[in-house]
Amino acid sequence: MRYCIKVFGCQMNTVDGDRLRTVLQEKGWTETEDEPAEMVLMVTCSIREKAEQKVFSELGRYGSRWRATGRPVVAVVGCMAQRVGAELLNRFPWVRLVAGPRSLGQIPGVIDSLLDSPSPFLLLDEDPVSVFDLETPGIVRSNRWRGFVTIAHGCDNFCTYCIVPYVRGRFQSRPARAIVEDVDALVRDGARDITLLGQNVNSYGTDFPEGPAFPDLLRKVAEIPGLSRLRFVTSHPKDFTRAIVEAMVENPVICPSVNLPIQSGSNRILKKMNRGYTVEEYAEKIGWIREVFPEAGLTSDLIVGFPGETEKDFVESLAVVERFKYDLVHTAAYSRRPPSGAATMEGQIPEDEKSRRLNAVNALQRNIALSINRDLEGSVVEVLFDGQAPKGDGLIAGRTSTDKVVLARGTAEDFGQILRVRIERGDAWSLHGVVEKPDRDREGGASRG
Ligand code: SAH
Ligand code: SF4
Ligand code: F3S
Repeated sequence: MRYCIKVFGCQMNTVDGDRLRTVLQEKGWTETEDEPAEMVLMVTCSIREKAEQKVFSELGRYGSRWRATGRPVVAVVGCMAQRVGAELLNRFPWVRLVAGPRSLGQIPGVIDSLLDSPSPFLLLDEDPVSVFDLETPGIVRSNRWRGFVTIAHGCDNFCTYCIVPYVRGRFQSRPARAIVEDVDALVRDGARDITLLGQNVNSYGTDFPEGPAFPDLLRKVAEIPGLSRLRFVTSHPKDFTRAIVEAMVENPVICPSVNLPIQSGSNRILKKMNRGYTVEEYAEKIGWIREVFPEAGLTSDLIVGFPGETEKDFVESLAVVERFKYDLVHTAAYSRRPPSGAATMEGQIPEDEKSRRLNAVNALQRNIALSINRDLEGSVVEVLFDGQAPKGDGLIAGRTSTDKVVLARGTAEDFGQILRVRIERGDAWSLHGVVEKPDRDREGGASRG
């Protein structure tokens, strides 16, 4: 049997997709393209209305082949499955399974019967506390050298714009032992760069009476033999502590790379968003990082056009982008996501105004990233190469420990190695360089490793 998998949304979905792949592979299914597949598996996202529209239009496309041949059957899993629920079955009769992110563990039990079962499967979780998890690491993964491991489910923060707490349920840390086992399995399978995932990794362990807390989890994972690079996302600024920076300083395996989403530069809007910090508190935390890692990679998320955002609030958002000099900012126009609190707030901003603000902040950030990357011209960085560059013959791509994308001339033999690269050109999204030949007379390739 052949399946095709389509993953939308965040890295948590990437892991869920890889874990489902791993299970299907073990059951003897083969991954293929859209067209010959007997089953299409969609791992979906609800974060913005657009993310859902994409899935709806994709779903419509399978109708004609299904009417003619009874194939493919479609399984919709993930956040949008949880939010939209049974309506998916009614609108698209070729959808035979709808499963929320906390029901992943039930999928292996039903997946083989999807093709002939007379009735569809609806695996939604009414109880936001329960998690029926798929206890398998995502061994069958898209990138051989990189792996992702979820360390906590759900989120309890209820930022007023956000749907995640409604679809992913209550915050729940995974036991440290299970996390270490997953990372270990991925590293033994060849992954050198591991990212720990959670909606708010900093609150890891706060639901355990005896810990470990997040900095200690980092230390524990960093000790795993064979692991070269350890990363983590997402850090919620309100829970980001100095102890995390200390663990990073102690452990060179932990990458000097932090995603600290600010969301807005206006304290008034941050309060309406229920974010739990002010710009000043946020700045202090950035200071802790920059103090010890002046070259740290720093990224952020920012929403424009939140209800009630005035021109003054927006100018304050531009000011924080200018001030913190991020390497990358994930920007988005606010999207109404009922039942999240902001969906019914007064002062919803018209779409064209949101677009104007989005374009303005993107243009500003582009120039900042360009200037940061140009300053790196002439420097030498260590890059873990992990694949062909999306375009450009003979170019391979990899990342620095600060999470910058680097392109250089090379071959598949360079994949999975950390090589020194002299940067020749920086543009807004990537660095272009030349791999330095290891000095074999000295230490037999000392610069690899
Ligand atoms: N847990 C992470 C982010 C999860 S969602 C955090 O706390 O930062 C990823 C990003 O999507 C968010 O950082 C936010 O910038 C964006 N986002 C979430 N809900 C949104 C909405 N309703 N409209 C626009 N962007 C949104
Ligand atoms: Fe959403 Fe806020 Fe939770 Fe992040 S912390 S997932 S933005 S509710
Ligand atoms: Fe989307 Fe769910 Fe992630 S809504 S961003 S896939 S947690």
